Amino acid sequence: MNAPVLNHFLIFSRIAERLRSHGYCVIDQAFDPALTNSLQQYAAELQAEGDMQRAGIGRGDDQILKSDVRKDRIHWLTAGTPAAAQWLATMESMRLFLNQELLLGLFSYESHIAHYAPGDFYRKHLDAFQGESNRVLSTVYYLNADWQPENGGELVIYDTDDRELERVSPAFNRLVIFLSEEFPHEVKPALADRYSIAGWFRLNGSSRDRVDPPR
Ligand code: OGA
Ligand code: MN
Repeated sequence: MNAPVLNHFLIFSRIAERLRSHGYCVIDQAFDPALTNSLQQYAAELQAEGDMQRAGIGRGDDQILKSDVRKDRIHWLTAGTPAAAQWLATMESMRLFLNQELLLGLFSYESHIAHYAPGDFYRKHLDAFQGESNRVLSTVYYLNADWQPENGGELVIYDTDDRELERVSPAFNRLVIFLSEEFPHEVKPALADRYSIAGWFRLNGSSRDRVDPPR
């Protein structure tokens, strides 16, 4: 095995272990920092070129904009640039690993880059849509070099009784993963530009009569 593959194997093993015992995990120095850097650069380019859209709530035709709930701007990732392609390939190998280890039957992965401008937030929510339990695992990956405590923008993770479990600062190369239906969470107002990649491993929710939209 070459070094990156071996590294990923160790990280993926830790993730599987923590998901099994706690249902969520926070991993520092998750991937090769060269990848984090190129993703950060790509995110800044997207933002500078106006290629980020106001994020909605809900899916497909039901999507609505609610600026009292979330303020970030997003760009859904495709493998169209080397950085995004490497990101998606990494998450694909994680999907295969977690399926083997945890028998989750994860079918696909979707993710978007998000930019929170100063003042932006995302109120407490669950990622799995009610009545459509197709988002199984949520991932958040942070791209912010030198994030300072006074910049705020923490991810706060709660349990189902609304007790605070973790307060996570969006530090460079930090990866958070949690079961989508079990952990309400929120993003506190960011006081500096905050970049992240939020993503979801999903089950296949399509049937003969109904095609499950990818996002
Ligand atoms: C989300 C989300 C958390 C974060 O996009 O659904 O909860 O820390 N993001 O950016
Ligand atoms: Mn969320």
